[in-house]
Amino acid sequence: MTPRHRHVAVFVGLTVTLILWFRTPEWLLIPPFRFLGTPRTAHPDILNRTLGFQHIFAINLPSRTDRRDAMTIAAALSDLEVIWIDGVAGKDVPEKVLPGHPDSRQGGFTVGNKGSWRAHMDVLQRIVRENITSALILEDDADWDVRLKAQMQIFARAARAFTQPRHGQTLAERYRNTHHPELLISRLPRSITDHRSPSPYGTDWDALWLGHCGTEFPTITTTTTRTEPTTSNAHFPPPLRVTIPEDMTVPAPDHLKPHPFAFPDALASQYPPHTRVVHASRGTVCTQAYAVSQQGARKLLWRFGLLTLSGGWDLMLRDWCDGVFHPSTGDATAAGEAASRKRGPTCVTVQPPLFSHFYGKGNGAASDIMAPGGGFVNRQREMTPYVRVSVRLNMGRLVEGEEGVEQWDEEGVEQWDDGG
Ligand SMILES: *[C@@H]1O[C@H](CO)[C@@H](O)[C@H](O)[C@H]1NC(C)=O
Ligand SMILES: *[C@@H]1O[C@H](CO)[C@@H](O)[C@H](O)[C@H]1NC(C)=O
Repeated sequence: MTPRHRHVAVFVGLTVTLILWFRTPEWLLIPPFRFLGTPRTAHPDILNRTLGFQHIFAINLPSRTDRRDAMTIAAALSDLEVIWIDGVAGKDVPEKVLPGHPDSRQGGFTVGNKGSWRAHMDVLQRIVRENITSALILEDDADWDVRLKAQMQIFARAARAFTQPRHGQTLAERYRNTHHPELLISRLPRSITDHRSPSPYGTDWDALWLGHCGTEFPTITTTTTRTEPTTSNAHFPPPLRVTIPEDMTVPAPDHLKPHPFAFPDALASQYPPHTRVVHASRGTVCTQAYAVSQQGARKLLWRFGLLTLSGGWDLMLRDWCDGVFHPSTGDATAAGEAASRKRGPTCVTVQPPLFSHFYGKGNGAASDIMAPGGGFVNRQREMTPYVRVSVRLNMGRLVEGEEGVEQWDEEGVEQWDDGG
């Protein structure tokens, strides 16, 4: 080999290494080439009894013992450790503790909303008081797939595009000014998905909205309609989408909807069947499950414990994640400009959601807090939207040591006759 050849060989070698390091091609992720690809092991802590968060809290009115029993069994079957937070009845919340002006509350503000607000504030208060790094908060009718831990490992990897800054910027921010930017999960750089980094879900985030009954894809177009053109839109949710193709825990397109009478979500028509998409939260509603970091809990408790109470908790969290409370760009002063250049809240969500609302049979299943899209409490068949192999629906089988049955097969055909 002449020195010139050696240089070329070294150059080619380095280039190939760099390409493999930063942009693993798809074919390297399937056998027999898999061993050449980057290691895809997710953070092992996600498999622990609190899904890699410091704690899991579940909100439950002590009088609803039926729900506490059910959630206790469901958690045990999934090897999860849940700490109960007593729910609050709205009638027990005095008017004088409510933040904000009474006129700021929406017409539909109910006594139920008041109790729900207080219960969520109580969880946030505990997280702040005990300096808890991160916690998952569940409502007591939340349900999930028997494969939850594996799903969470994949979600965590995707979420890092939004939550793991490198040199002060997340991947989502670097893609901010691209129209409809999209990345396959397998294309995420190893530098942000590496499981050796200290925190399973990334180091800089406020909320991970894992259980909801509807969300929107953020886009540059919709964000600019909300405000005058600005030098910076850093406080709006970034439009990046991270896609997880061929996730067989995702139901067929017909079943991608928050309740049986809804139209399918945009996800159903925009993506091939069995695609899951992780993106920044925008327009998300229902709080069956969400995680907060310590910084997120402090910001939320300050905002909604002390300053603002305008409606149902999920609608306020939606607005907060959408950047509604972030310093507006309308402020022309230097301080206003600086504030608006600061990053807005970092809330990450996933479609379809990983947690969903369990709809039971009969009156005993009636929600104490009506969820949007609820109201069919007398259904003859129990169901949980979005979840193919539900822990709640399969509880009878799982406690007997049997396998769970899917609600719908791969093609979307119902497999279920009764609550079994
Ligand atoms: C699970 O992992 C998280 C993150 O490392 C940790 O804070 C938590 O204590 C662990 N949970 C259990 C039950 O060990
Ligand atoms: C809270 O925890 C963080 C690290 O998790 C630590 O740096 C900080 O000092 C703690 N704050 C208090 C008030 O204990």
